[in-house]
Amino acid sequence: MVRGVSPALETLLLPFERGEIAIPRRALLLGAEVHPAFREWPHVTGWQPFKPLADAWEKAGHPRSDAPAGTWPLVLLLPGKSRDEALAAFAKAYDLLENGGTLVVAMANLAGAQRFEKELERAAGKVGSLQKHKCRAFHAVKDGGWDAALLAEWRQLGEPRELDGFTVEAGIFSADHIDPGSALLAEHLPKNLRGRVADLGAGWGFLARAALEKNPDLKEIHLFEADARALNCARKNLTEPLFHFHWHDVATGLPDKFENVVMNPPFHSGQSTDIGLGRAFLRSAAGSLRMGGRIFLVANRQLPYEAELDALGLVWRKPVEDATYKLLFAEKRLDRPLLRPGFEERTAESQRSRR
Ligand SMILES: C[S@@+](CC[C@H](N)C(=O)[O-])C[C@H]1O[C@@H](n2cnc3c(N)ncnc32)[C@H](O)[C@@H]1O
Repeated sequence: MVRGVSPALETLLLPFERGEIAIPRRALLLGAEVHPAFREWPHVTGWQPFKPLADAWEKAGHPRSDAPAGTWPLVLLLPGKSRDEALAAFAKAYDLLENGGTLVVAMANLAGAQRFEKELERAAGKVGSLQKHKCRAFHAVKDGGWDAALLAEWRQLGEPRELDGFTVEAGIFSADHIDPGSALLAEHLPKNLRGRVADLGAGWGFLARAALEKNPDLKEIHLFEADARALNCARKNLTEPLFHFHWHDVATGLPDKFENVVMNPPFHSGQSTDIGLGRAFLRSAAGSLRMGGRIFLVANRQLPYEAELDALGLVWRKPVEDATYKLLFAEKRLDRPLLRPGFEERTAESQRSRR
């Protein structure tokens, strides 16, 4: 296996390496991830809503499309995690195939590859399949025999839907319920926010909306989000001109300074836990704070963010903690600490002396 390449992508490419499927003159990769083998392909256009992967794809020199159109002789698919998202992607891939074209899908066994292969078989009738690297790659040819009613049902799963008055979409974070951690933070956000607000990993806009509801005089709220689909939902949910939207990888830092940062940082990359990502969010937040600026974050209780806040030289407190979540409110102080009501002194020094 090539280092840094997902096992699903390695498996996806096996039928081509083995000569079982011919490499056509052009192909479309949905859920694009870089692989050195693609350098030898005549043309692969990638669709990738997740900014860090989209950037990597472009950096590797491949063309990228935000909204693939037309039809293709080959569509490769690395579907997302949720059932609705994967089935909607099957229908989208079918629509993008030319007649006689081939769809090849690869998924990890743990993500339900066998179940999804059966689903594709239900639609296509006949599916070829192989297994390696704890993944399955399965393929079907677009002939006249696909089940049109089933495809219509799957297409519907990818349409925008409503959640408590907000627009959401399958596959984005908290697409079927408001995240309880974010709800806890929204409940405890202060009513004295002044200046500009940044919402990091803003999703479909829940926290940005909550910040404005608590602070109706705010003039600027900036949403930074890596998932283009979530950000598009946020654009529909937050139509007031004070909202600004950035398709951005927060781990790379922020392009501006802010008085306030709100966030429910991600701690997963793909299927696995990645505390480093949450830490990178904290670093970007701290780096973007003006002096006296504040961070309001929610995290799962067990995540070790307090040490990171200490390392960043921020003064913090934990106003709420329950069985699952904790809120951490942090402040970037002037040399002479600028105490705000409710911000008890809690620096790395003071915490060491309390241990
Ligand atoms: C725990 S969710 C919180 C979403 C939203 N703020 C809410 O409260 O519902 C974390 C969000 O961070 C986004 N995300 C993950 N990695 C990111 C990155 N590198 N840069 C920006 N956003 C990222 C995810 O797509 C997801 O929407």
